[in-house]
Amino acid sequence: MKFVIGNWKMNGSREILRGMIQQVDGLRPENRVVLCVPFTLLGEKSKNIAFGAQDVSSHERGAYTGEVSATMLNEAGAKYVIVGHSERRMYHDETNDIVREKATRALESGITPIICVGETMDERRAGKTMDVITAMVRESVPANVRDDIIIAYEPRWAIGVGVTPTPDEVMHAHGVIADTLSYMGLGGTPILYGGGVNVENIDDIVAVENVGGVLVGGASLKPEEFIPIIQSVK
Ligand code: 13P
Repeated sequence: MKFVIGNWKMNGSREILRGMIQQVDGLRPENRVVLCVPFTLLGEKSKNIAFGAQDVSSHERGAYTGEVSATMLNEAGAKYVIVGHSERRMYHDETNDIVREKATRALESGITPIICVGETMDERRAGKTMDVITAMVRESVPANVRDDIIIAYEPRWAIGVGVTPTPDEVMHAHGVIADTLSYMGLGGTPILYGGGVNVENIDDIVAVENVGGVLVGGASLKPEEFIPIIQSVK
């Protein structure tokens, strides 16, 4: 079963979310639809959509003003959490070590972490893409994982700018990630593609080998863009 996961980032409102739920609940999706919403929008119920958060604390509890723990996310109804999104790595200096801690906290609370990896344009130009994403996977995935995890390949240069890699480039990156995961004993882990996914390119992207679904930013905010994407992924 493939995944269609929306990342609302710091967008949306309860009214917009309820409108989206109403429309998606009228469909019969042939995939797993997840919306990763701001913390404050967790708690809605939906027949067809599971909910997730976009970050989690690397600590279990304590004096960490402003942080939200995995236990709290679980109580708020989150089944998934994005960790290591490039915007967190860039603007909040999250390292692979921190991302791995966050994924560990999520797993301890029964939440599936969606662990993001991806190279910068400078790294791609320098021919380092495959080394960078291999290291990110090896260092960001917790040891001895026994529960489900998801990996999202999101080339940083393709996020929010309407540029996407070619299907060949996606195939190559996903192949390297799949090999790395197999080597780690995690063969079969879903590997999603994210960055510039829209209704025009969705068919080409999900047709690529080792693409287990998509992580959608901007195009997940409006039902008229998100619903055709949901319906394209089988
Ligand atoms: P866009 O789909 O807006 O490029 O964002 C991708 C993303 O960051 C999803 O996590």
